[in-house]
Amino acid sequence: MKADVLLGLQWGDEGKGKVVDVLAPAYSVVARFQGGPNAGHTLEFDGKKQVLHQIPSGIFREKINVIGNGVVLDPTVLKKEMIAVEKIMPGCAAKLFVSKKATLILPTHRLLDRAYEEAKGNGKIGSTLKGIGPAYQDKIGRQGMRVGDASSPDFKAKFKARTAIHLEILKRYPIDFEWDALEKEFFDAIEHLKTLRFIDSEYFLNDELQKGERILAEGAQGSLLDIDFGSYPYVTSSNTITAGACTGLGLPPNRIGKVFGIFKAYCTRVGNGPFPTELSDETGERMRMQGNEFGSTTGRPRRCGWLDLPALKYSLMVNGVTELLMMKADVLDIFPTIKVCTHYQMEDGTKTERVPYGIAEQKIKPIYAELKGWNTPLRHASRDAMPQALCDYAAFIEKELKLPITLISVGPDREQTIFRN
Ligand code: GDP
Ligand code: IMO
Ligand code: MG
Repeated sequence: MKADVLLGLQWGDEGKGKVVDVLAPAYSVVARFQGGPNAGHTLEFDGKKQVLHQIPSGIFREKINVIGNGVVLDPTVLKKEMIAVEKIMPGCAAKLFVSKKATLILPTHRLLDRAYEEAKGNGKIGSTLKGIGPAYQDKIGRQGMRVGDASSPDFKAKFKARTAIHLEILKRYPIDFEWDALEKEFFDAIEHLKTLRFIDSEYFLNDELQKGERILAEGAQGSLLDIDFGSYPYVTSSNTITAGACTGLGLPPNRIGKVFGIFKAYCTRVGNGPFPTELSDETGERMRMQGNEFGSTTGRPRRCGWLDLPALKYSLMVNGVTELLMMKADVLDIFPTIKVCTHYQMEDGTKTERVPYGIAEQKIKPIYAELKGWNTPLRHASRDAMPQALCDYAAFIEKELKLPITLISVGPDREQTIFRN
């Protein structure tokens, strides 16, 4: 058996949470492989909305949910989230397994995130300030603390030593905080964390595959926020691409099966950084309102723009996507004409369909194809009742990207999903 991977092809918030929840019944295990509480994955069912930050999106389907070694885990966020989810799904904590090798986000990581971001002035990344960058810095610098350490008798001493160094750095920044309260909150949350099952997730997942069980690896953020392939430095601090599922779960590359690439029928980005097709006009504002494009983690308005094919082609290349899932098609209901960027025009006048190295510095002009909109509400559309203009839009994208769109999402609810195969 091979593990399937599901990940975002744009700048995050493509609708990964919804789709993982929709696909989870066909799997035994759902596993997050990178990122942390910077993620906000929204699910809707029975008229209610749930937002998950640390817990994988298979939790409402009574599947085993694994927080993998590649994740950075904030126990204070997990505790709050678990208490809320347990109210809806009593007993679900027994289905949440945590890798001993996942890196812990310490309270000082959140403070450092704030300090570094504020010191950047105009060059701010637009971080969610959840401590992601500083926690991964410690991991890569070989001085991180891991979930497995929480069971060790010298955990507190290690924490004191590590945070003492962070607190020393923080003296150089004008950041106010109540250390005692933060420390107490952290240790309370560690006690809660210790009630969950800690596992050697690489053994667990490979054993499950060996037994013939199906695994779905759930990505966070999006490919264009990848630390290596995103628009550096306006990126997150992990590998969000398919390769991240290998390193973040201990799955060998030849154990990866399908790669589901999710994209919105248009584009959004939250935080700073280049966005060639961004609409800073009334059309962008209408997209934001129609799509309710406000961040699930921070509530910030998301920047909106037309679909960007050069960027999508780049994402497909680095991920080895095998099928496409198109989300939020219903948001385009209101536009008589829909634009799709097919090429970039560079400052020197040349045309390209490749993402240039200096994308953060160059002024790129998108070149658009125009397609007819469907101009009708899609929320109740079905496989047999799709407007022709929507079929044409999907066919245009499939031809450009040379991959099938196997699912079209037409609303936030589980049920508002059209399967096409
Ligand atoms: P994720 O981070 O990729 O899981 O995406 P988010 O949950 O941050 O953002 C996606 C938003 O769009 C959420 O509010 C979802 O409820 C919503 N959503 C998902 N699919 C659809 C869809 O097909 N149509 C509409 N209108 N909303 C959707
Ligand atoms: P999901 O999983 C959208 C963005 C932030 C910022 C940059 C770095 O919900 O799709 P970080 O906190 O990681 O240091 O922020 O990345 N960002 C996201 N944008 N969706 C996300 O996750 C994001 N996680 C981080 O806005 O620009
Ligand atoms: Mg999100």
